[in-house]
Amino acid sequence: MRKKLIAANWKMYKTPDLTREFFREFLPLVSGHSRDEIAVCPPDIDLVAAVEAAKGANVAVGGQNVHWKPEGAFTGETSAGMLLALGVKHVIIGHSERRQYFCETDDTVNLRLKAALEAGLTPICCIGEVLEEREAGLTDDVLRRQCVRAFHAISSKKAAKLVVAYEPVWAIGTGKTATPELAVEAHAVIRSEATEIFGEEFASKLRILYGGSVKPENAAALMAQEEIDGALVGGASLDPKSFAAIVKY
Ligand code: 13P
Repeated sequence: MRKKLIAANWKMYKTPDLTREFFREFLPLVSGHSRDEIAVCPPDIDLVAAVEAAKGANVAVGGQNVHWKPEGAFTGETSAGMLLALGVKHVIIGHSERRQYFCETDDTVNLRLKAALEAGLTPICCIGEVLEEREAGLTDDVLRRQCVRAFHAISSKKAAKLVVAYEPVWAIGTGKTATPELAVEAHAVIRSEATEIFGEEFASKLRILYGGSVKPENAAALMAQEEIDGALVGGASLDPKSFAAIVKY
């Protein structure tokens, strides 16, 4: 059995004060909850407040990106060591917004992934097709290509903590959710590619999350699928009640 991971991606929302407020309200709603792993990924500026607020609770804190070098003249970037020093456990890598607006490529995703794994962080590596690719019948090819490039030269031993998030770009922030059937199909493609790359045993344990307009209203149907090992939640994770409702689905 793969333990589900329900992760919040706050993107560029909330200050440290609002982060503390979120945890004050959120933690009592999920206390005692142990069926799923829960992680909240706020902007870097809120990480200290989040780690402090979540201390002793069943909620981990994650970053939204990580650089591949331990330190250096890389303005605006954060290293794996810096995240670890704060008590951060997870990190999102290769989100489609990074790819779309900040020139992130499959190659830099691969570098960031290697650095995160090397450091012992749990990377949540995002992949997914854009609408034109889906409409052109290219979804499977795109997913396989993104996997091959992101996981290039990473051994199954090194990849032990890897988590993949399938986020169809057309479903992000649009209110359009993939149907459970469609998500399951895409997850199966990713798992089959992971089998090619890492072997069957690894692939059978690999957690593949779904992301894209996950809400309390659609979470139950998605999470009921054996192939869907959790969710990466954007907009609906900003409100403690709505994120707690998704965790409990
Ligand atoms: P929404 O849940 O707002 O569609 O965002 C999904 C996402 O990008 C999570 O990483």
